[in-house]
Amino acid sequence: MMQHKPVLLKEVVQCFKEIKIQIFLDATVGAGGHAKEILQDHPEIKRYIAIDRDKTALEIAKKKLNRWKEKIMFFQENFLFLDRYLKDRCADGILFDLGVSSMQLEEGERGFSFKREGPLDMRMDRSKELTAEKVINDFSRKELEKIFRDYAEEPKWKKALNSILSIRKKKRIKTTLELADILKKICVKKRHLHPATRIFQGIRIYVNNELDSLKVALSKAIDHLCDKGKIAVISFHSLEDRIVKRIFKENKEMVNELIKPSYEEKRVNRRARSSKLRILKKEMV
Ligand SMILES: C[S@@+](CC[C@H](N)C(=O)[O-])C[C@H]1O[C@@H](n2cnc3c(N)ncnc32)[C@H](O)[C@@H]1O
Repeated sequence: MMQHKPVLLKEVVQCFKEIKIQIFLDATVGAGGHAKEILQDHPEIKRYIAIDRDKTALEIAKKKLNRWKEKIMFFQENFLFLDRYLKDRCADGILFDLGVSSMQLEEGERGFSFKREGPLDMRMDRSKELTAEKVINDFSRKELEKIFRDYAEEPKWKKALNSILSIRKKKRIKTTLELADILKKICVKKRHLHPATRIFQGIRIYVNNELDSLKVALSKAIDHLCDKGKIAVISFHSLEDRIVKRIFKENKEMVNELIKPSYEEKRVNRRARSSKLRILKKEMV
């Protein structure tokens, strides 16, 4: 299985360095890449709360973080419910590393990738009902319009939509490569981006209710942050980043900072290219 290379790892570790951490909440533990470095750097951590919606990711993280098993509590959950695991406690550090991992992308069967054959699935949590296949084949023109225009921000969304509506009258569109093939002929190719990138991303955002989860979770994270604590959020596209930026700016009494990946990191890790790290620190300015 493809290894996941954590993005902005040095920068995330650096951001928490100055804090003495008792409780850390990792909202997207994934393969445990960031978690491993944070746990190594903070032997004082008493409780590491590790959340991910994806059961397979949690299994990988459990193995990788076995050394710290006494301190870590794993939960398969949408980070939207992070308050359930903190209750009346606060966290000194909170990390959101948004989007999907390389393992999810590279495994064709998960249906996230336009480069690998697989069923149109795209669920991070496979116990949920809604799949990309249902969205593409059963949603109305109006519903798809919102996804293609607002979530995918695809300049050729109307053309893509019309083409899908006409093809699905004849047969269901069932696989990732079938959909990618339709989009390849229509959508805009920009520099290194595959033409199906935006529509795939828009569908994934919808299937996993990513933007609403992020809005609610960030507000809850701010409410549960200890004094002098920090929240770090790594985002990968403008819709996510806009939400993070807006919510952080609303908290005027806190300090916020933006960090981008180095040229070198972007060169060696493709996933880092569009990443942004925003940090919010709870302290009076
Ligand atoms: C980029 S990966 C995280 C990688 C991790 N930081 C590492 O270093 O291995 C993103 C992870 O977040 C999870 N995820 C995305 N949205 C989520 C949500 N709303 N609730 C819980 N987990 C989520 C995905 O399942 C995926 O495993």
